[in-house]
Amino acid sequence: MKKRIAVFASGFGSNLQALIDYNNKHGLNGDIVLVFSNNKDAFALERAKKNKIKAVFMDPTRYSSREQYDSEIIEMLEEEKIDLVVLAGYMFLLSQEFADRFKNKILNIHPALLPSFKGTHGIKDAYRYGVKVTGVTVHFVDEGLDSGPIILQETVDIDPDDSVEELEEKIHKVEHKIYPETVKYFCEDRLEIDGRRVKILNKK
Ligand code: GAR
Repeated sequence: MKKRIAVFASGFGSNLQALIDYNNKHGLNGDIVLVFSNNKDAFALERAKKNKIKAVFMDPTRYSSREQYDSEIIEMLEEEKIDLVVLAGYMFLLSQEFADRFKNKILNIHPALLPSFKGTHGIKDAYRYGVKVTGVTVHFVDEGLDSGPIILQETVDIDPDDSVEELEEKIHKVEHKIYPETVKYFCEDRLEIDGRRVKILNKK
């Protein structure tokens, strides 16, 4: 059975677009039925509308707590019978209740090799630190910051002459390749979790 996917995004939504394109071209074994944002100006919402996907914005400033905000989101996800939540540049920490309710059903992409350079500026932080190798991580989400079990990582070299913009471009290219791959693994029930270790079944 095809999975019902919700994508959460706060901004530009290039990863959302990569998922939509991959699904149209190769199939994810899932349908992106909802795009959610905490930011009414997120371009991701426009991308959803253009692709005839339901686009929902909820204003977090209208809720007295993160817990209340997330409760309402959970209700919506349950109504929509969502099997998988894909965070794609969703710059808002999830509540414990959310993480628990969708345990092992939330994915996130981070633009660095976790556990290095957590937080909202993974690319710039790695660049400024001067590491020679950085990369992209896709992981399950728990209640911590960029801390859940890692599914897939791919390295990106930082050349001495790279500008931060050039590095950003290299990172995004890798993101747009490995995020759809991972979502497909999930939708095909090919991810086996054992504590912090994740095995991808039948990986070529
Ligand atoms: C991506 O680079 C993603 O890795 C990053 O936000 C960007 C969103 O881009 N996420 C984080 O830093 C999470 N800690 P997009 O809106 O174009 O997909």
